Amino acid sequence: MKQKIINTLKIMSAFFQSSTDSFQRHNGQYEAPGKFERDRDAGYDNLKKDLLNAPPLRIRNLLALHPQIKTAVDVGSGTGWGAAAISPLVDTVLAFEPSAAALDISKRAYPTGIYPNITWIQGFAEEVLPTLHLPTPTIFFTGCVLSHLRDKEALLICRLIDETAPAGSVISFAEAWGERTWHQIMWHIRTKGWWEKALPNWTLDFHGDFEPGQDFHMGFWGTKK
Ligand SMILES: C[S@@+](CC[C@H](N)C(=O)[O-])C[C@H]1O[C@@H](n2cnc3c(N)ncnc32)[C@H](O)[C@@H]1O
Repeated sequence: MKQKIINTLKIMSAFFQSSTDSFQRHNGQYEAPGKFERDRDAGYDNLKKDLLNAPPLRIRNLLALHPQIKTAVDVGSGTGWGAAAISPLVDTVLAFEPSAAALDISKRAYPTGIYPNITWIQGFAEEVLPTLHLPTPTIFFTGCVLSHLRDKEALLICRLIDETAPAGSVISFAEAWGERTWHQIMWHIRTKGWWEKALPNWTLDFHGDFEPGQDFHMGFWGTKK
């Protein structure tokens, strides 16, 4: 009974999410004392473990299939480990993130002297994507960004990626997908059909593993048709 009430409250909580809740909650964490050291060390650990090629992203494998891609866009780059990890694999990395605190951590942890091809941009994906002019096929990737956003923002970001992406571009989204759609505040699981409708010009490959103990998978690829 108690669990049923908790589950109902969780479902209802999705109705109270605003467009900027994810940014606000994450930003509060990025501004917390000691966050630089913690995220820097966690990020370096991610690089050491090669999480760029772990099941939710598998980016090395994807780039090996598309060797013409030399530009990467990290959508919602957080404290920057993904942009740093992909940096040696491409010529140019554009990493954008609304939190100034997260970008400050990113720039200190992954300085220009060592990562000269990363441009850090502050802004929401909805604002930054329309300003990009990408002349060649590009990889767009996310690390659990859209799963924290409402359908409205997630759909808009998918559409803007589609409009920005030259033919031959690919995506690797470390985002949740499952057998059924369900929502609660800051956590949105969408079906394969939902993602296919959101990205109609892309062929999607739902490779992501089942998350242990959860009823959803993480990660899929896409190729622009
Ligand atoms: C779970 S964190 C993931 C960060 C990073 N991708 C990683 O893998 O560590 C989600 C990030 O999305 C950012 N975010 C929230 N709303 C966004 C938006 N509309 N556009 C781009 N990023 C957004 C948050 O500020 C946060 O840094």
